[in-house]
Amino acid sequence: MLKRDDDLAPALAAADPAFRADVIAGLTRRPRAIPARWFYDRRGSALFEEITRLPEYYPTRTETALLQAISGEVAHLVGDGRAVIEFGSGSSGKTPILLEAVSASAYVPIDISAEFLRESSRALAMRFPDLPVHPLAADFTGPVALPPIVGERPKLGFFPGSTIGNLAPFAAVDLLRMMRRSLGEGAMLLIGMDRIKDQATLEHAYDDAAGVTAAFNLNLLERINRELQGSIPVDAFRHRANWNADRARIEMHLAATRDIAFTVAGRPFTMAQGETIHTENSHKYGSHDARLLLRAGGWTPVAEWTDPDDLFAVHLAEAQPPRPAP
Ligand code: AVI
Repeated sequence: MLKRDDDLAPALAAADPAFRADVIAGLTRRPRAIPARWFYDRRGSALFEEITRLPEYYPTRTETALLQAISGEVAHLVGDGRAVIEFGSGSSGKTPILLEAVSASAYVPIDISAEFLRESSRALAMRFPDLPVHPLAADFTGPVALPPIVGERPKLGFFPGSTIGNLAPFAAVDLLRMMRRSLGEGAMLLIGMDRIKDQATLEHAYDDAAGVTAAFNLNLLERINRELQGSIPVDAFRHRANWNADRARIEMHLAATRDIAFTVAGRPFTMAQGETIHTENSHKYGSHDARLLLRAGGWTPVAEWTDPDDLFAVHLAEAQPPRPAP
């Protein structure tokens, strides 16, 4: 029986209204799609940390080794004493490599999760006792007001992890422009981008043998059931990760293995066997694509490094004054 709205009200009142709106709209539209940012509840964040340690998931270890290898060159190019602003700092795993190399004058980690910020700031304060750390709990996809203490200092934005790839190109450009506005002219940006490579390597990275990425994807349905009073039969879904060569991206979907009917926040939905919910895109960029993206976002490419197998790239760019176009 369908629950009445007033039966649902007390528990749903506690749910994030933006989550509810995205899920209802996403399940209603065709093709069905729910934004990937909703993966990251407590369990989703823990599963993502597990993904970063999987043998098939090359990006994290490759980027970490790359940052270690290039840190001297990066320091030479950016100079000493910049304030480092990290976007979506999460657990700040790669940050010490950079902070050490560039002798940062301050560190501003920006993350939507106040809990992550507290933990990572505490760990960094212990490792760098003389470094002023100013955590900022904010959604960095919007304009960010930096703490006044970093106001006049030269700035270095840091956006590792190839998170830029989770945005469609138009949204990635918007974000790069937003970062430029937040950091100001003269700022530099060190950003990780995953490279285009063979299909098998890419698909295995997003569909690992141990099933951790599948659990990460399916956890979104568990979260919907728990927070939005859903009745989705999670066992009727299968994780799918496919390379879309035309769009140069891995697409993650949740595919229904049989015809199903369920409710979310009191709304009824049906899905036929084989229908999917699109849950994530992870765009990959060749060298030219990446540099074009940076330029479109208002950043002038300065340098670019990759690992010996060309799996992953780190780009350094600068917010130069605009030049008149011919
Ligand atoms: C966070 N982001 C860069 C990851 C990626 O590779 O696109 C998210 C992820 N999804 C599945 N595995 C990892």
